[in-house]
Amino acid sequence: MIGRASILTYGCQMNEADSSDIAVALRDAGYSLTASWEAADLVVMNTCAIREKAEDRIKGTLGQLRAVRARRPWLVVGVMGCMAAQSSEYLEQEADFVIPPVQAARLREVLAGLPPPPGLGEEAGDLPPLQMEQETDFKRYLPIIRGCNYRCTFCVVPNTRGPEANEPAELLLAETERMSEAGVLEITLLGQTVNAYQHGDWDFARLLDTMARRHPHVAFRFLTSHPRDFTPQVIEAMASNANVMPYLHLPLQSGSDSVLRRMKRLYTMAQYESIVSAVRDAVPDVALSTDVICGFPGETEEDFQLTLDAMRRLRYDSAFMFYYSERPGTPAVKLGEKVPIAARKERLARLIELQKSIQLEVNQREVDREQRCLVERVSKRDPEIMLARTPGNKSLLLRAPQATIGSWQRVQVQRADSFTLYGERVGA
Ligand code: SAH
Ligand code: F3S
Repeated sequence: MIGRASILTYGCQMNEADSSDIAVALRDAGYSLTASWEAADLVVMNTCAIREKAEDRIKGTLGQLRAVRARRPWLVVGVMGCMAAQSSEYLEQEADFVIPPVQAARLREVLAGLPPPPGLGEEAGDLPPLQMEQETDFKRYLPIIRGCNYRCTFCVVPNTRGPEANEPAELLLAETERMSEAGVLEITLLGQTVNAYQHGDWDFARLLDTMARRHPHVAFRFLTSHPRDFTPQVIEAMASNANVMPYLHLPLQSGSDSVLRRMKRLYTMAQYESIVSAVRDAVPDVALSTDVICGFPGETEEDFQLTLDAMRRLRYDSAFMFYYSERPGTPAVKLGEKVPIAARKERLARLIELQKSIQLEVNQREVDREQRCLVERVSKRDPEIMLARTPGNKSLLLRAPQATIGSWQRVQVQRADSFTLYGERVGA
């Protein structure tokens, strides 16, 4: 071991998947990985630029790292992820190396060129190891597309991650095979627009269906679907394979056609709703989640009411809700009148309130049902309570031995609140 390294991961599942690759590169370079980033010789920040708030948090940590460096001048700080794609004097000053997502493979070269940290101050093995979300041996992410070809006017991702690059299907099938043989229980296919996948004769529906049929004992999920690319074949692949989990994340963004148009989302509310009806008809227990932005430039109170109406009609199982954050270099910067920040926040609060009450009703319908859940980890508050995930991707707490982690359990749901189900184990 030449030193200790830590990885701080922010943002989306794609970053979590990328952090696994970063971890492999760090280990190959001779570092041991620790969760105590304050005590590491090398810290890699895998950053997110999607909203200003994300960037502010990361800048706060970079400030703390500056203080660490004052005590331990050999500390090396690397910035990767989406912030690293936006030229910034600030980052050049704070970091020893900056690698944007499209050049992630450069990390190994950079590591090879670093001077080894001076001797080990602390005993090896005395720091808590880095437990990566991604690295459980039973749950994995598999990126199938990197980058994005859409140009949603609010979104920084096309700038930070570049245009779409699709992984060859043969490679993905081989990787799935390896994971399945290694005993992985759940694989989540990832892409900014995962269902736009296209490589040779392979489209997303064919890829998903093939994987699901070849590995009937592996559960498959996928994130994130764009409504524009949602085909009947994808619905068919979901409906005909019991191991494709009945869960669909389908970002809506706004319930107003005029806002959708200015966001360049390329669908209307009616088109979106017809996809949802088709999915719900074909996959009766499907859980649906979404992303919504309020306070997009030019959004009127009437537009916002249309979003609230849409949420009432669609009754999502969960929703990620944000107020609009202006991102430098995105087309929306030059669009329409800005909604004052206080109004954006106030709309968001109303939206969250509404969704919370809908979720309570939706979750309560699950009470008394039996579900097969994947036990993921010990809950935060009680070592005898485990956190599991339902097929519909809901968090479920149950009393069970820690030995059940990484196994499927049959659970009877006993009660539910807006964000969590509570159940009892009835068998394996
Ligand atoms: N297709 C991507 C979307 C990435 S961003 C995916 O894989 O999920 C995730 C969500 O963040 C978007 O769906 C959108 O709702 C929200 N978002 C993106 N840019 C934003 C901005 N400038 N302000 C507020 N929310 C934003
Ligand atoms: Fe962003 Fe739209 Fe692509 S939200 S990631 S530009 S589909």
